[in-house]
Amino acid sequence: MRVLGIETSCDETGVAVFDTARGLLAHRLHSQVDLHARYGGVVPELASRDHVRRLVPLIEEVAAASGTALADLDGIAYTEGPGLAGALLVGASVANALGMALGKPVVGIHHLEGHLLSPLLADPRPDFPFVALLVSGGHSQLYEVAGVGRYRLIGDTLDDAAGEAFDKTATLLGLPYPGGPALAKLAESGRAGVVSLPRPMIDSGDLMMSFSGLKTAVLTLIRKREAAGPLDSQARADVAAEFQRAVVDVLIAKAVAALDQTGVSRLVVAGGVGANRELRARLDVEVRKRGASVYFPELAFCTDNGAMIALAGALRLARAKAGDGAFTVRPRWELESLPAVEESSG
Ligand code: KG4
Ligand code: ZN
Repeated sequence: MRVLGIETSCDETGVAVFDTARGLLAHRLHSQVDLHARYGGVVPELASRDHVRRLVPLIEEVAAASGTALADLDGIAYTEGPGLAGALLVGASVANALGMALGKPVVGIHHLEGHLLSPLLADPRPDFPFVALLVSGGHSQLYEVAGVGRYRLIGDTLDDAAGEAFDKTATLLGLPYPGGPALAKLAESGRAGVVSLPRPMIDSGDLMMSFSGLKTAVLTLIRKREAAGPLDSQARADVAAEFQRAVVDVLIAKAVAALDQTGVSRLVVAGGVGANRELRARLDVEVRKRGASVYFPELAFCTDNGAMIALAGALRLARAKAGDGAFTVRPRWELESLPAVEESSG
């Protein structure tokens, strides 16, 4: 089965073709970072308009790169939610229009399901069940994943998501949007043990997290240090390094506790913060120490992309009914409300 995947939930236009027999055949991404940078964050209307401009040319490019005529597709998958309503509608309209014109089935995919299943794009791919640490701009969650559509939320953040904390702390340190990768880069030249920040809820005894206090602690620290004059680049790097270490310490503690609590021996990491090198390196060591395994998507498939939507679509399409051209988007959508797919996901 060969499926076209379309992702337009936020500020990236992602398109891919996934083939269940041959794997990922081609993928392309257009990032809107330059478009939104001057506003310090995503402007929804600009995002929608840019998706309108980029999507069809990207589909043509991916079809050509994968050697697929659109008529040879077996189905089309698009991100139905959650996300920005206008941005979602662009992908939804194009996917459904294509489906109608080609007479192919169309399936709406939950964006977080795309992230959760993205480690299945890698080799080796994890078997079910696994625990998923989902760390994106909007989510810091732990799921027990028993199969496609069989997701149990076992841990969550009480306030800010890890990515959101990275982004807000980056702003405090004067770094440009998008803050997470910029902060991680700055942290590379930071020294250990020069400043110290809390590890919120690390000993809470459950799988809950909280990151907004950490951001406030950074603000307090910066203010205190600035009383003696502006922070030089070394001092900013020291704060960035300690912040990153604090977030990674908490994420590792919670992920390991989730493995212990569920008795599951596979951990997968998904979402944009999964691109963080310190998280990847240290989690790998900690999980192996326990005789468990950790799986990461390739860096390109940690952040938003079309490949994860094409893959999730391929796993779901077998059960999709032929569409009547009517469709919806779901800017808010509970992951646990998805129907399970009973067949083995081969
Ligand atoms: O999954 P994603 O691309 O979009 C959402 O669905 O939210 O995640 C974006 C988030 C942003 O908060 C970004 O700052 C963060 O992932 N991020 C990182 C890194 N790369 C992206 N955070 C820490 N270190 C990174 N290398
Ligand atoms: Zn995402």
